[in-house]
Amino acid sequence: MNIILLGPPGAGKGTQAKILTKKYMIPQISTGDILRAAVKDQTPMGIKAKAFMDNGALVPDEVVVGIVEERLAKADCAGGFILDGFPRTVAQADALKKMLVDHGRAIEHVISVDVDKEELLQRITGRRTCRGCGRGYHVRFDPPTASSVCDECGGELYQRDDDREETIRTRLAVYEQQTSPLITYYANESLLRSISGTGSIEDIQQAIITILEGGQGDNP
Ligand code: AP5
Repeated sequence: MNIILLGPPGAGKGTQAKILTKKYMIPQISTGDILRAAVKDQTPMGIKAKAFMDNGALVPDEVVVGIVEERLAKADCAGGFILDGFPRTVAQADALKKMLVDHGRAIEHVISVDVDKEELLQRITGRRTCRGCGRGYHVRFDPPTASSVCDECGGELYQRDDDREETIRTRLAVYEQQTSPLITYYANESLLRSISGTGSIEDIQQAIITILEGGQGDNP
């Protein structure tokens, strides 16, 4: 199963991708997570990416396309993958199509997760992430049992540098301008299914599974 989860910042792509990886035993490829790891390790790519990320801007296409090409070549992607946060521009979508075609592969499902702007702001400002295992939480909607401690690995929970309100507004505007054209792009390829991303994490997961296993989304 080769899947793209599409949606604005805070739509729940990462939350859903982590559950899907366990169900289908295919990896989540989050360009945001890969870039944050590079920033933390202060690699040349991370140093270059940090300024873009801190400002809520997109990292240049050639950098993220290179990351994804390298990641998709790994053995654990042979049985499928979940792309979370990539592609984010038409140029990235074109590059993805080419790299997959070159290896006799293709995207099978693009699921667009829709959430309104006020809810997105609440979700992102309340998000906390585990430094150890990367599991996401929300201080109100999905809190850990003990504040600041991950239920799964005991790791410390932290708030992302780009989850400040002014940066979030820029990220939402960037999504509208540069990423939302991909909805039409993948609709034209007859790959797009849209679901509401509002409701319980479990109900949204079920809506995604229904699509992946042959059902229809809200707007087929
Ligand atoms: P990235 O890390 O990809 O961030 P994003 O797309 O902005 O998405 P988020 O991680 O903010 O949200 P999400 O949809 O995964 O939501 P989540 O599940 O965490 O990118 C960060 C930066 O890296 C970019 O700004 C850019 O600079 C760079 N970058 C990355 N990829 C790039 C690319 N391809 N090209 C160029 N630059 C790139 O959920 C959010 C919160 O809501 C959590 O607290 C969660 O617990 C909660 N939640 C989830 N579901 C629900 C629910 N149903 N109800 C209530 N709360 C919920």
